[in-house]
Amino acid sequence: MTRKILVTSALPYANGSIHLGHLVEYIQTDIWVRFQKMQPKEKVAECWYVCADDTHGTPIMLRAEKEGVSPEQLIDRVWHEHKRDFDGFHVGFDHYYSTNSPENREFASQIYLKLREAGLIERRSIEQFYDPDKAMFLPDRFIKGTCPKCGAKDQYGDSCEACGATYAPTDLIDPYSAVSGAKPVRKESEHYFFALGKCEAFLKEWTRSGTLQAEAANKMDEWFTAGLSDWDISRDAPYFGFEIPEAPGKYFYVWLDAPVGYMASFKKLCADKGIDFDAFWGKGSTSELYHFIGKDILYFHALFWPAMLAFSGHRTPTSVFAHGFLTVNGQKMSKSRGTFITAESYLKHLNPEWLRYYYAAKLSNTMEDIDLNLDDFSARVNSDLVGKFINIASRSAGFIAKRFGGKLGQVPAGQELLARMQQAAGGIAELYEAREYGRALREVMALADLANQYVDSNKPWEIAKQEGREAELHEVCTVALNAFRLLTLYLKPVLPKLAENVEAFLNIAPLVWTDAGHLLAGHAINEYQHLMTRIDPKQIEAMVEENKQTLAPTPEPHSQQRHAGHQQQVAKAEEAAAGWEPIIGIEDFGKIDLRIAKIVAASHVEGAEKLLKLTLDVGTATRTVFAGIKSAYKPEDLVGRLTVMVANLAPRKMKFGLSEGMVLAASDERGGPFLLSPDSGALPGMRVK
Ligand code: MSP
Ligand code: ZN
Repeated sequence: MTRKILVTSALPYANGSIHLGHLVEYIQTDIWVRFQKMQPKEKVAECWYVCADDTHGTPIMLRAEKEGVSPEQLIDRVWHEHKRDFDGFHVGFDHYYSTNSPENREFASQIYLKLREAGLIERRSIEQFYDPDKAMFLPDRFIKGTCPKCGAKDQYGDSCEACGATYAPTDLIDPYSAVSGAKPVRKESEHYFFALGKCEAFLKEWTRSGTLQAEAANKMDEWFTAGLSDWDISRDAPYFGFEIPEAPGKYFYVWLDAPVGYMASFKKLCADKGIDFDAFWGKGSTSELYHFIGKDILYFHALFWPAMLAFSGHRTPTSVFAHGFLTVNGQKMSKSRGTFITAESYLKHLNPEWLRYYYAAKLSNTMEDIDLNLDDFSARVNSDLVGKFINIASRSAGFIAKRFGGKLGQVPAGQELLARMQQAAGGIAELYEAREYGRALREVMALADLANQYVDSNKPWEIAKQEGREAELHEVCTVALNAFRLLTLYLKPVLPKLAENVEAFLNIAPLVWTDAGHLLAGHAINEYQHLMTRIDPKQIEAMVEENKQTLAPTPEPHSQQRHAGHQQQVAKAEEAAAGWEPIIGIEDFGKIDLRIAKIVAASHVEGAEKLLKLTLDVGTATRTVFAGIKSAYKPEDLVGRLTVMVANLAPRKMKFGLSEGMVLAASDERGGPFLLSPDSGALPGMRVK
């Protein structure tokens, strides 16, 4: 049966830049789509990939206001930035739209009205915090105050970052609006709810029909056990979004119209290309529909969305593919460490296909997190892509040009290496189809190893020096370039741009999967141009340096409200952690023994550019510390002064001797180091806390 496939990636929020975390998803999806598009029409008749910016909600409204522009202007600007970044990483959407579109308004309203007809919309009054200055209701994330448990100030409305306590915004002491600073008041208003509980039987069946990954299905079972609560789908004005039909002043909550954006984007594509929309979304459609998402938004895609579709007369997704989160060097992306890297800044320094390859090598079809280890990244790309793959072409192309007029020779019948490589096509295809990219690439690299062994044992560079071995040389180089062509074909979903350049070099039509069935012989190729350079770790350093920010904790909430409770807290903790990392508990802080120290001696260190040697009196003992403060202090000026030291730091052996602690100094790009000193009265050995 020929397949018709519609694929989506989650719609990125229009209030932030695309970063390397997002790209896990867009690259994962794009590889799958490109793979499908390389299949013959008899197998995959159509495959479409759509996405859009997720543009509605309070954070976007407030951000626009802060920037002094209209929300429409803001989302228009961000749309262009996002599109530029996706193009830069060769993410080939068939259509990239916006949820603030007429199609989306139409579909969201239609679906809502159908749900209402089905008796699934309920209205009731709820009481919420209201900012009397701004005349708006405040989402939990926009209420701050003092933690009821530990007394920490300026905590968010649902949990405390200092002690980890969770609570309702109403529990906060001295709550204030993060928008205006005003004291919020309690105010009632009527809200619209989607009665998810009534969809339970349907959802259980849908979950168990094999549409979900095992881990996701388990998660669903947890949710069923916990019970499905009704979902608040309305927000009061002022709100940037769509007004609910027959409900003036009430707007759809952003998460209601966001997934509908998948349909809207596709609808527009259908209009542009004459595609049959209903063949994809109509009830009973036999087309396949897949949503690639991150594990954090599973709740929306595995519960709300299928229920919305099913009860509004549409088909439900064939499958939802959830992936894990990106860590960099084993930790959450961090602005202070320079690992919160935007797509834009990556592209300034590095080749997008390096990242595509690395992510693919790490990806499987599970929800496990994936780590971008920056050392491993350059080692892997250099050894696999340049060392193993490109090398095959660069070692044989020159002879074809110089000795054989740019024309390939013949391949002997049954040539073993090539036969083996051709036979691998089916297995590699299955792995791509199953989203087991890491395994697919290991297969491909094993083939590249074989091809290199072939070249190494036939040594074209030696044959070339010997007389009368022209035919042999021609054959070896022809076999090698055929091997290179097959490897390019298998890597094409991951490396589309490189594949295009190889196609130009080999003078062939765009490679499709069935091309594995034949070889190139007696064919004129073009001159070899260098195809890919190695990563110089300096490029990575420069990128990380550029992304390092010394910032205050995010003063203003910027991520959208997630599903209530736990997920929301996770999102928020992540956001806080983006500025200050790692978040430590009071016990961790208590482990650091800070003491007042008196500098009793200071001297230059021979051969050290930055260090001064300090002798410190800490009351009960003296310590030797090497401190990197030479650029700012003369040794003689330091003697006698008090400072603060970390007294329980494990001693470190340095080139110049043992350093038994650390003195504290401030610095950043604006200047420093500035040694800390206590107010007068402090004495050596006093504990600092
Ligand atoms: N706007 C919602 C999605 C609506 S879909 C109808 C949203 N946007 S997002 O910008 O926060 O995230 C977009 C996608 O990127 C999500 O699938 C999310 O899981 C993914 N990622 C965002 N940060 C990520 C990492 N650090 N790592 C991996 N994926 C991440 O959620
Ligand atoms: Zn607290």
